Parts: sequence; structure tokens; C-alpha cells
Amino acid sequence: MIEVESLTKRYGTVRAVDELSFTAHSGAVTGFLGPNGAGKSTTMRVVVGLERPTSGTATVDGRRYADLAAPLHAVGVMLDARSVHPGRTAFRHLLAQARTHGISRKRVDEVIGMTGLESVAGRRAGTFSLGMGQRLGIAGALLGDPGTLILDEPVNGLDPDGVLWVRRLVRELADEGRTVLLSSHLMHELALCADRVVIIGKGRLLADAPVQEIIDRSTGAASLEDAYLQLTADSVQYRGRSADDSATTPTAGSTR
Ligand SMILES: Nc1ncnc2c1ncn2[C@@H]1O[C@H](COP(=O)(O)OP(=O)(O)OP(=O)(O)O)[C@@H](O)[C@H]1O
Ligand SMILES: [Mg+2]
Repeated sequence: MIEVESLTKRYGTVRAVDELSFTAHSGAVTGFLGPNGAGKSTTMRVVVGLERPTSGTATVDGRRYADLAAPLHAVGVMLDARSVHPGRTAFRHLLAQARTHGISRKRVDEVIGMTGLESVAGRRAGTFSLGMGQRLGIAGALLGDPGTLILDEPVNGLDPDGVLWVRRLVRELADEGRTVLLSSHLMHELALCADRVVIIGKGRLLADAPVQEIIDRSTGAASLEDAYLQLTADSVQYRGRSADDSATTPTAGSTR
């Protein structure tokens, strides 16, 4: 179980996370949603001790990450699939992680098999495509057979077969009683795999409920995407414009 309580993380004047509280329960997949810059990755980094909270707490099974004796066995994390030594092979990368916890080579082979990377395990991770890198990141998260998994946009870059695989994998992990916290911008995918969703905007909690309840509570919403767009309408910080909108921008009339 992941418990985030009154968590605030400030970077200078930016409140990346603002008095945020929620619980990701064991035996469930909790989807973590919010616009770009809402504070999802920051929250996840605080949970795994990569950032110190400005105030509030984040714990896994009642303990701060820093107090866990064998973190890889407690929490599997995939935050940034690119944070791999590019010159190391996938196998060596996983083996190095495994050795910090006395995890066997057999388990390394197992997670390589689970993520479908057998044919490229001997290749340098720096030569991997986006999706291959994501798979390697997921393999690393599974290594310690942890009771809690924190996956930041795990399906980003995966092919349709990979997306389906992640959906089944997180379902299985939750059905085994594990806690899964997963962020994604793919509403349709989340509606299919999450039991509950936590939606944040500008660091603050906007909604925390089962998927169907979120949809039912939003007027006229037929899907999670509809409900999400309503809930986050005032929290979007970066909104692109179409060419048609340019007439209303300060550059209107420019000859460029
Ligand atoms: N190390 C840092 N230093 C300064 N500001 C930061 C740092 N990390 C994050 N931020 C800021 O905190 C806010 C939240 O960022 P975060 O990466 O948590 O958002 P996110 O919800 O994961 O967004 P996305 O969907 O784009 O991944 C942003 O305004 C970001 O610029
Ligand atoms: Mg992020």
C-alpha cells in the first residue's frame, strides 16, 4: 500500500505537488492521471526517496522508502526508462541491479523472458528503441518480485502487443495482491486496466475514485476521457494552439 499524506514538494516558487493525499491499495491497479506538469512524476520520485518532500509524507507499507531494508524486493520502480548506462548490455544492466540485492542470474533471465527481450539481452541498452527501453525498465521493476510497483508511463512507446501485455501484467500483479501505481495519458488504456484513478492538476488532488464512479459523477461524460477533460479543464498549464487560433494571438497580423 502506498500512502501519500498532505504531500507538498516545492521547487523554488513552483509547487510541483501541493498538499496531495491519496492511497494506492494492495490488490488494485491505481491509475495516476493529470496534465503535463501536474506533479505525477514528482510524487512518484518522492515515494521512492529520490526527492525529499517539502512537507507531508509518502510511505510504502507504512515505511518511508529510505527505511526499507531491501527496497528492490519491496518496491519495483520504472520512472525513466532512459536512465540506463548506454554502454551496458540489457543483461549486464539487470545483473548489476540484481547483485545489489543478492538476486540470482536465474531471476534476471526470468524477467528478460517476461518482458520479451531474450533476443536482445546481449545488446547495449544505448542501441535500444523507445519500446525496447521501456521493456527493459519494466524488467528492472520486476526483478525483486516486489509487493508494490510504481510505473511512470509504462506503455509509452510500446507497440499494441506491448500495451496489451502491460495491461495483462498489471492486472495479474494486482490479482496476486500487489499494489500497482501507474501513470499514463492514455485514458482508454487506463479505463481498461485501472480499478481506481487518482487525478491531479497543478499538484492538487482533483478526483480519487473507481473509474466508473469518476465517469458517473461528471455530467454527460460517457468515458474516462470525457470525465478527465472536464475535471482538468482549469488545471491544464500547457495547451497547444491550432493554426485557426492564431488570429487571437499577439502575433496576429505578423507577416512571418
Ligand atoms: N528537478 C526539478 N526542478 C525544478 N522543477 C521541477 C523539477 N522536477 C519537476 N519540476 C516541476 O514540477 C512540476 C511537475 O512536474 P512533473 O514532472 O512531476 O509533472 P508530470 O505530472 O509528471 O508531467 P508529465 O505528464 O509531463 O510527465 C513541473 O512544473 C516541473 O517543471
Ligand atoms: Mg511525468
